Amino acid sequence: MLKIGIINGPNLNMLGKRDQKIYGNLTLEEMNCKIKSFAEKEGIELIIMQSNFEGEIIEFIQQNASRLNGLVINPAAYTHYSYAIADALRDCSIPVVEVHLSNIFSREDFRGKSVTASACIGQIAGFGYQSYILAIHALQDFLKKGSSEINK
Ligand code: DQA
Repeated sequence: MLKIGIINGPNLNMLGKRDQKIYGNLTLEEMNCKIKSFAEKEGIELIIMQSNFEGEIIEFIQQNASRLNGLVINPAAYTHYSYAIADALRDCSIPVVEVHLSNIFSREDFRGKSVTASACIGQIAGFGYQSYILAIHALQDFLKKGSSEINK
């Protein structure tokens, strides 16, 4: 059974209250329910966390990577400047997919830059909670192919 970690960065606990035109109207809990029900059908176990703190995200990666097959991360605003999270992702030996609810390339200029994506096998942005489901699909496929080549 595949075990995948889902990491949500700062302010994502405010989903449902944050700008709904950009982030939709689902709360984090509602979004997690949808992602969990997809994973259950696929026979995938998820370990989901959210934190507003950079160090906590890094510790989660360090402490859990060895028991996970892959990671999906929405680093939120840390995407744009956290070299520390990028290094933690690079150092963990499992494939990571970066996700965003919004299309970060069609927003303010600073959001069009991700310092974390280069530590990932790929990035999916702009599909709301479906970004997470697409990322799990991508990881499933990547792991099934038994690819030993992780593009980090
Ligand atoms: C986000 C995009 C980031 O720029 C922003 O800081 C977030 C959410 C997204 O999911 O669209 O908090 O990662």
